Amino acid sequence: MSPRIVRTVSELRTVLAPSRADGVGFVPTMGALHEGHLSLLRAARSENGTVVLSIFVNPTQFGEAADLDAYPRTEAADVALAAEAGVDLVFAPSVDEMYPTGFATTVSVGGPLSETLEGAVRGRSHFDGVATVVAKLLLAVQPDRAYFGAKDAQQVVVVRRMVADLGIPVDIVTRPTSREADGLARSSRNTRLSPDQREIAAAVPRSLRAAQDTFALGVRDSHRLAAAVCAELHAAGLDPEYVETVDAESLEPMSEVAHPALLALAVRVGPVRLIDNVVLVPGADDRIPLISPERTRP
Ligand code: PAF
Repeated sequence: MSPRIVRTVSELRTVLAPSRADGVGFVPTMGALHEGHLSLLRAARSENGTVVLSIFVNPTQFGEAADLDAYPRTEAADVALAAEAGVDLVFAPSVDEMYPTGFATTVSVGGPLSETLEGAVRGRSHFDGVATVVAKLLLAVQPDRAYFGAKDAQQVVVVRRMVADLGIPVDIVTRPTSREADGLARSSRNTRLSPDQREIAAAVPRSLRAAQDTFALGVRDSHRLAAAVCAELHAAGLDPEYVETVDAESLEPMSEVAHPALLALAVRVGPVRLIDNVVLVPGADDRIPLISPERTRP
């Protein structure tokens, strides 16, 4: 059955009011749904009586206007996929509904959480944009559980911090990164890769695998781990924007991996900026590039 589409927060609240008893699961997206989103929707479907999907290309989290303009918008196809995934309600607001004239509030998660990795390259305004829109979406939907993919690991850490700090009553559920057969992390932006660029992009998961293999040999020095990543990327003609090893919770840089770490990278392939990561846990020989599902509730 096709999900109902609502465009305003007041309609969303009215429609959801009688459906809360068996739990509301929420998957926030910017649309252009792919298998990664569908796996989040399936998880939400299996754990909640009602499933809400939001589709909103949030302008405040984009740095370059060109990236915002080029972001794929495929609402009709998204709604068809949402129907197959058993979504009950699609919330697809306009920019004016989310940011009406006079909008003046920003939710800003301070410190390294927003300033390292993506924050260092895209500027902290990126995570201010993410935190603000996610806070607004959580307040609009008031879900019991909200689902996020581990590919955007820093986003998950920022959202968890915000939810804990503001006392928003929701479980944040993280699901493993969804990957293509060659390991490339699924992303809405991948559709903009040419066939040649798509082939070159396979070096990204290969490079993370090289870091995992190096780590499994006992190497804990972050420079040597980064060197293993860079060797694979350079061999494919790619020059990463960053390859960094940080504490998996605080996102503080680590020179030696003594406790769970996030090894994250960003690299441009043609017109597309790809990000990906693995978690490195001393004592665990886990070479599958994913973050285990986790929940937090304040
Ligand atoms: O991950 C995304 O698609 C976006 O950052 C999100 C969480 C929907 C906020 O706009």
